Amino acid sequence: MDIMRNLALQNNPKTLGEVLVEQGYITKSQLARLNSQVDDVRPSHRIPGFQMLEKIGSGAMAVVFKAKQLSLDRIVAVKVLPPRLSQNQEYVERFYKEGKAAAKLNHNNIVQAIDVGEANGTHYFVMEYVKGRTVYDDVNNGDGYTENEALDIIIQMADALAHAHERGLMHRDVKPKNIMITEDGVAKLADMGLAREAEDQDAAQSEQGRAYGTPYYIAPEQIRGELDIDYRVDIYSLGATLYHMLTGKVPFEAPTPSAVMHKHLKEPLVPPDHINAALSIGVSEVIEVMMAKKREDRYESCNILMEDLKAIRAGDPPLQAHQKIDVEVLANLEDGYEHDEELEDVLGAGSSHLGWKMTAIVLGGLLMIAILIIIMMSMK
Ligand SMILES: Nc1ncnc2c1ncn2[C@@H]1O[C@H](COP(=O)(O)OP(=O)(O)OP(=O)(O)O)[C@@H](O)[C@H]1O
Ligand SMILES: [Mg+2]
Repeated sequence: MDIMRNLALQNNPKTLGEVLVEQGYITKSQLARLNSQVDDVRPSHRIPGFQMLEKIGSGAMAVVFKAKQLSLDRIVAVKVLPPRLSQNQEYVERFYKEGKAAAKLNHNNIVQAIDVGEANGTHYFVMEYVKGRTVYDDVNNGDGYTENEALDIIIQMADALAHAHERGLMHRDVKPKNIMITEDGVAKLADMGLAREAEDQDAAQSEQGRAYGTPYYIAPEQIRGELDIDYRVDIYSLGATLYHMLTGKVPFEAPTPSAVMHKHLKEPLVPPDHINAALSIGVSEVIEVMMAKKREDRYESCNILMEDLKAIRAGDPPLQAHQKIDVEVLANLEDGYEHDEELEDVLGAGSSHLGWKMTAIVLGGLLMIAILIIIMMSMK
């Protein structure tokens, strides 16, 4: 009661929560948790047919709830779009189109999309609920991955992406936060088919200074805002994710999102095995090909990428990557030039041997003719 009286007496607009913190009844983090629970009961977040249970997370663009789908009596995850995106007609159209396409995909390593819809002016996306953690949780907690543990996850992601790419869908936001690991250790790609904002650059700029959304995994052509981006952006982002999992560092670090993006465009990648000496040369080569700045230097498809991932997992060399590494080809050409010179020397020596033989044959022939003439003359 004291608290309420204090609140009434004070002539400033403090919330009850702030006063509770001030008086030491609750901590700041307890207040933050309470506030996030208040979010759950916002009328705009009520969706017919679903009972919202609790908020399970939020990202740069949306809030995710655990919910019960009443008709089927099952637990699902519901992603609710913020008004900023719900009011953008072009975005909403793409959200529905891609949401429907994603719902047609069915793969054990893709978080199953279930439904897209609108209630109270809010657009939402219903998906399979995954109980577990994300790869982001692991790298953020400092729980590193061994090469084989990381490869087991990335192989599952390459398989998931191959499935989506073959059906005409690209992800465009592959990153540790979008890879979930179930309690049984199955990796699941989240947010498949969720429309991203058209101008990644603008989105990234608007997130400047915030803790999330920094473009650590984005492909150069996405940064340039190219219109004809294809599935190879996912190969780049998956490579950047693998880099982070194995080195504990993002591939390019800088104080601002634009500086990070500049590095993706211009700065050569520090090979992962230069940071973590325990890595095999093979995995380093695979990452370098996945993260080639020019998409034509990357793997042609996730199926081809998978051949190399499985090879290095089995301790064999990544043959597809070897075909792609131009530097090696150039080095071989140079070696080849030296070899050619040697070869010429060998050929030269050979031809002189041949010359001697020819000379001997000709001289032998002439000698035979001379002997024949002498014999014929002596017979006369
Ligand atoms: N299908 C799901 N099942 C269970 N939890 C989920 C599911 N989808 C998302 N989450 C949780 O909700 C959190 C927020 O997800 P969201 O996609 O909004 O943002 P994000 O991917 O973490 O980050 P960003 O905003 O940068 O994209 C995730 O980090 C994850 O913990
Ligand atoms: Mg996500």
